[in-house]
Amino acid sequence: MSKPRILVARAIFPDIVDRLREHFDVEANPDDVIWTPQELAARLADKDGVLTTGSQRIDGALLSAAPRLKICANMAVGYNNFDVDAMTAAGVQGTNTPDVLTETTADFGFALLMATARRMTESEHYLRAGKWTKWSYDMFAGSDIHGSTLGIIGMGRIGQGIAKRGAHGFGMKVIYHNRSRLSPALEAECKATYVGKEELLRTADHVVLVVPYTAASHHTIGAAELALMKPTATLVNIARGGIVDDAALAVALRERRIAAAGLDVFEGEPSVHPDLLTVPNVVLTPHIASATVPTRRAMANLAADNLIAFFDGRGPLTPVNQ
Ligand code: DGY
Repeated sequence: MSKPRILVARAIFPDIVDRLREHFDVEANPDDVIWTPQELAARLADKDGVLTTGSQRIDGALLSAAPRLKICANMAVGYNNFDVDAMTAAGVQGTNTPDVLTETTADFGFALLMATARRMTESEHYLRAGKWTKWSYDMFAGSDIHGSTLGIIGMGRIGQGIAKRGAHGFGMKVIYHNRSRLSPALEAECKATYVGKEELLRTADHVVLVVPYTAASHHTIGAAELALMKPTATLVNIARGGIVDDAALAVALRERRIAAAGLDVFEGEPSVHPDLLTVPNVVLTPHIASATVPTRRAMANLAADNLIAFFDGRGPLTPVNQ
């Protein structure tokens, strides 16, 4: 019997592509070409499965050009690049990579929070530019992490990881807002208190966003929400571009309505709103929250395992639709 045909839509670890070749007839993309939706559709015309990253949109138009397609295995925990309803209607399984990136991403969220509150990149640029000539009492004075109030919007696995780091490691008071409350046991483990979104924005010294991107979470933080925040507060987004109105944020940063922001994700990335590139009080990173070698390997292996298990008839390991 011939092997199922698989497309690996972006470059991934070559040894994991080799592992896929043991099970499938694989078309890979070792040069990491960014295909247009039309080019992707043309490649999927004769494929049974695809390994995607968050940068390939899988929607009804693409699915109608891919009549054999049975599974899209995303190498990401977020799957807002999938039109899940269209996939389900077309009988196409979607999978993602939860759990394997939780701690790495929570580490990064905390690192970005600290870099933002303590003005690390802004001060490094100053030093590299040869501007450091003397010590002064207020040079790059930022805000404290320890003992401050951490507000987390989105209390899934990654949000809980950030809460634990803040509460247990830095003595922060943790408040959170989420679609649903955690169980009392989980709240106790995270030392986190549930509050309304408005109360969180008004009282947190640091606000961290970890919500999935959906139509309902679009612009969770816009001009009105930024206006509620303390002028000394920081905002960190490691969730998805589109959760924050980047244009409104750039205005708030320039006018010092909030102190600083740390952003790993952007609306329309890899493009970044030009105004964010010119304000000094923002730390910008290129969507790398899960980027450690062990974690990226674990994500790629889990995506591969989903494909293998699905075509073996064992069923997907981490399905996003049923
Ligand atoms: C995820 O897993 O959703 C990340 O954003 C991709 O690195």
